[in-house]
Amino acid sequence: MTRTVLTWGMAGLLALTGVAQANEDQKLGEQLFARNCAGCHSATPAPRAMTPTEMAAWPPEKIYAALVSGQMMPIAAGLGEIEKRAIALHVSARPWGTVPTTKVEEKLSQCAASPPLPADALSKPHWSGWGLDDDATHFQPAERAGLTAADLPVLELKWAFGFAGGTTVSTQPAVAGGRIFLGSHEGGIYALDAATGCAHWKFETPAAVRGAIHLTQRPDGRFVLYTGDRSAHVYALDANTGELLWKVKVDDHPHALVTGSLAIHDDVLYVPVASFEELAGASASYECCTFRGSVVALDAVTGAERWKSWVIPDAPQKTRTGATGTQLWGPSGAAVWSQPTIDPKAGVLYITTGDSYSAPAAATSDAIVAMDLATGKIRWHMQATPDDAFSLACVSPTVDAKTREECGPDIDFGASAILRTLPDGKRVLLAGQKSGVLHALDPDAEGRVLWQQRLSPGGVLGGIEWGFTADEENVYVPISDVWESKFTKGAAGGVYAVRIADGKEVWNTPAAKPACEGTPGCNAGQPAAATLIPGVLFSGSMDGHMRAYDPATGRVIWDYDTVREYTTVNGVPAHGGAIKGAGVTVAGGWVYFGSGYGLWGMPGNVFLAFGPR
Ligand code: HEC
Repeated sequence: MTRTVLTWGMAGLLALTGVAQANEDQKLGEQLFARNCAGCHSATPAPRAMTPTEMAAWPPEKIYAALVSGQMMPIAAGLGEIEKRAIALHVSARPWGTVPTTKVEEKLSQCAASPPLPADALSKPHWSGWGLDDDATHFQPAERAGLTAADLPVLELKWAFGFAGGTTVSTQPAVAGGRIFLGSHEGGIYALDAATGCAHWKFETPAAVRGAIHLTQRPDGRFVLYTGDRSAHVYALDANTGELLWKVKVDDHPHALVTGSLAIHDDVLYVPVASFEELAGASASYECCTFRGSVVALDAVTGAERWKSWVIPDAPQKTRTGATGTQLWGPSGAAVWSQPTIDPKAGVLYITTGDSYSAPAAATSDAIVAMDLATGKIRWHMQATPDDAFSLACVSPTVDAKTREECGPDIDFGASAILRTLPDGKRVLLAGQKSGVLHALDPDAEGRVLWQQRLSPGGVLGGIEWGFTADEENVYVPISDVWESKFTKGAAGGVYAVRIADGKEVWNTPAAKPACEGTPGCNAGQPAAATLIPGVLFSGSMDGHMRAYDPATGRVIWDYDTVREYTTVNGVPAHGGAIKGAGVTVAGGWVYFGSGYGLWGMPGNVFLAFGPR
């Protein structure tokens, strides 16, 4: 098996045959892994890295893909084609070719008819975007949800969709007028029938669609979708036909991406810009780092740029040279990973920012930043963690002493801030950090801290990751601690309800002992965004379960284990795995979510649709 794989697609280059050669391949992979990977990927791995046992659960194709086009690309830059394949085969416990790859053709079943969306689609139950409202609450009101706790027992799986590349599933779809618009990690946006999963159209994008899909209706009645991709493009599509209306690149940095969701207000899109340059920093020859986070305001109709506001106002400058003479730059980083929160009353938007990539750390990294809606000018910021300069150089065994000295704890803000107005009219801005701390700020007093509540030990994959949710009284916060819990402190997962008025804990429900225990990647962490509807709080887990909690008590009232094989509407063999990324989508009595976020968890590639029995 191994030999055929190494020569896969390169038969003309090499003729590797025979048992002796197979042993050679294994030895090559082992040696290359030891030299290039084991420094970080060992039984006691570098922060955020997986153990070899966890990676063994990955198919070789996915490990190979991480080296040629994924997160490990900068690290593998000096390796040849054969070497990358040899490493992938060495790491994986599986042979090549047993899982769907992008080479597998999906067979979309075309819907018999594709009538246009009904003109009133957005006045009926629907879901659009990430945070659902300007306040980014991720709270779906009763009339749009069409679901109550009493309906949970009669929910049943109606259809499943398989992602052909077998890759991570994390996007938040839009649902309206009997359609679901779904972004794909392999690139592409699908318009499917919300009840049957048959396809109306597919629009190809060259890079992963990671953020939510927004559906809006223009004054002339036209339905338009907006989203961004991993190559920092933003798209506007006709929702009925998939026709491209415009496409704009919002940042020229080679590592830039749009992974957070856009916010839309008064026909202006506010686009958060992030990057994976933090990973490139691992290479001693990389001039780390020159990316700066930003928000770009675009005219929704034309895509024309209104303004671009950098989180770090000045362009990075040369700082010093690293151990091997490589030029270093800073301050850099402060990526914007999540949807901006819009506050028309104050005339600002709020973003939460990631760490700095290189020293000196910027004053606006690991911060909550308020920008003027009309100009993008920074009005105020509140930095939660100073001096947090982090790139993968910090976990590299070959890092020079000076860089290591400058390294911070890597505790970004990954989730959108939530704005809530209390019954007494007082407004509170809530921000959750990977540190495990939930911050409450006064948006009407330049971000003055009202209270701060530590909910977990936190860390590089810890605390609050993708998102939390709130009603008018409480904020509901799932806890990750995926990596931390394995090697250092405490248990992963759990959900907290905290009173917005004073930060006091209302209840907490620790994570159940995962049923998958023993499976590589099995973990009880709950990094995925939470979704709230009246009477039901949804929170997915890395153990593959989607659970619903009673928001009044924290009791688990519904539990669905996604870890199994599925027959899919597009003919792609699919299975469930860890749940991470976007939260549940609830609209008109239906429930949708994906399963299978393989990074740090059990891989999978399925998107599931549940409806009433
Ligand atoms: C400097 C430390 C370091 C080195 C060296 C390193 N890795 Fe990684 N690797 C990481 C970290 C940290 C992550 C998690 C990335 C993140 O934070 O998003 C990761 C992620 C991965 C992933 C998942 C990526 C994805 O796209 O989901 C794979 C697979 C992987 N590494 C394989 C390798 C292999 C094979 C090598 C050797 C060629 C290697 N790594 C070398 C630190 C390292």
